[in-house]
Order: sequence, then structure tokens, then C-alpha cells
Amino acid sequence: VIPRCNTIPVVDLSKALAHDRIVIVQQILKASQEFGFFQVVNHGVPENLVTDTMNVFKEFFELPAEDKAGIYSEDLKRPCRLYTSSSNYDHENVHLWRDNLRHPCHPLEDCIKIWPQKPTRYREIVATYSIEAKKLGLRILELLSEGLGLGSGFFGDKLSESLLLSVNHYPPCPDPSLTLGVSRHCDPNLLTILHQGDVYGLQVFKDGEWIGVEPLHNAFVVNIGHQLQIISNNKLKSAEHRAVTNSRVARTTVAFFINPSDDCVIEPDKSLIDTDESPAYKPFQFKEFLLNYSSLMGNPEKCLEPFELHA
Ligand code: OGA
Ligand code: NI
Repeated sequence: VIPRCNTIPVVDLSKALAHDRIVIVQQILKASQEFGFFQVVNHGVPENLVTDTMNVFKEFFELPAEDKAGIYSEDLKRPCRLYTSSSNYDHENVHLWRDNLRHPCHPLEDCIKIWPQKPTRYREIVATYSIEAKKLGLRILELLSEGLGLGSGFFGDKLSESLLLSVNHYPPCPDPSLTLGVSRHCDPNLLTILHQGDVYGLQVFKDGEWIGVEPLHNAFVVNIGHQLQIISNNKLKSAEHRAVTNSRVARTTVAFFINPSDDCVIEPDKSLIDTDESPAYKPFQFKEFLLNYSSLMGNPEKCLEPFELHA
């Protein structure tokens, strides 16, 4: 049992359109430095689209097994796949109580063809959702680059080219003390735009303790991925987080991951290395990072190590 609190900053994005833009830029920057997490409200994504999207995902997980069997796969290389819990039950330290559906969202015209065909509205609704989530993500990246003093469009193009949708479904668990929904990890990407629905379960590690992220109606949770931490030479923080289960209700969450392209070279930006600092990481290709991340199963202590430079 951990405190559920509302200390994760909440940012009103509608104010970024008006004369309060500088205030909002500073709020986002501060939250990204201190927590690596914040929530956004008045974000411009239509509420009925979010409701439709969450409903379509819930319907997907409720489909009969035979309708989902075709995309079930434990092969990490399958771009669109459904899988459950973990395939290493006897040897894992923590058992996960989760089903996960994931697929790419860019380029949309190509990848939509491999998305689920059921429910029938899936492709249409999720395509619209992915366009809106991308818009929101790029808007937040633009505010962040303003806050960091980087040029406009800094995070456009290759740094944010690869888009991945990951839908988590956590059924009610008879004994939540024996499981987790997702183990502690940092997201390996640039930025995550998460919709956690109305059911509590997300926790963030800060100053040595876990704090709960209260579901806020019609808000998105935004978190800094490993790549933003690296590019900012540790000025922004990629915070550890996890999801817990509950015994009463199913929880469905949708993470929209904004990633660099595979061959994009990641390194601390020169303008973000202070004069009394040296770069904390060496340059690498994003695909090298992913390979290492998956071989370490996301272990947050170890996955930055091969790329670190020590002054
Ligand atoms: C993730 C994640 C949290 C949640 O998918 O990377 O951290 O609450 N999800 O589902
Ligand atoms: Ni995550």
C-alpha cells in the first residue's frame, strides 16, 4: 500500500495557446526535471474520440479467444501482436497480470493493414486516435524544446519518426499482492503519452518511494523516455514507474510511444552540455539501445550503462 497523491504536476495546455505560454513551458520543464512525469488537461484531443478509442480496446480484449488467436504471438519481431503475462513463468521474479496488444502507427497507410480487423471500428478509430496522439506529443516536444532553449522543430523528423501503440489490459486479479501489472521500468523511447482510463494502478518512483498517479478524468499522463534524458545530458529525468493490479475491476491503458527511427544517432545535444560538464553519454544508434534494453528486460539500473561516459 502506497500513498496515492496528487503531487504529479497537472498542466493546463489550453494556456499554452495564450499569453501564458512561457508559464506553461516552465511548468512542463520543471515537471520533466523533477518528476519525469506530468499530466495534461485541456489537451485538445476530443473527449469522445478518447472514449471511443478506450471502448474499442476494451471490446478487443473481450473478444472470444478465437478472434484474437490470429494475432497472438510471443515472437518479439512480429510488428503487430497480442501476448499475455510472460512466457517464463517458472523462472521470473515477478509474475505479470497483463495482456498487451502493440503495433506501429507510422506510416499509417502501410501499418493500418496489419492492425486487428475486429472490432470492426478498430482501424478507423485507432487511426484517428494515433493522429491526435502524435499531434499532442509533438506539441509537448515543441514546448519542451522551447524550455530547453533548442530550436523550433528540434524533435521533429527522425527523433520522433517511429510511433508505437501499446495497449495494456489488466484483468481483476484475485490477489494483487502476488503480481504486478508491469514491473518497474523506464520507457526506452523519447516520450510517452499515456491514457490510463479511470482506474488507478500507475506508480512513479521519486526520492526513494513509490507515489500513485491519480487518474484524472480526460487527462493524459506524459513521461520522459530514456532518449530525452540522454539528449538533455540528464537535465530531464526518465522516471521509473510500474503498474499494480487490483481485485475489483479490469484496467485498460493505452501508451503511445514516440521513438526515434532505428538508425537515428542519439547523443547529448552540445547546447545542453554546460561549460562545467562533459557529455554523460557517447553517441549510438537508437536500434543499439533497443537491443540492449530488451536483452536486459528493461532493467532501469543497467540499461544506460553501455552508453555512459565517465568524466
Ligand atoms: C507502459 C506503462 C503503465 C500503465 O506501458 O510502458 O508504463 O499504467 N504503462 O499501464
Ligand atoms: Ni512505461
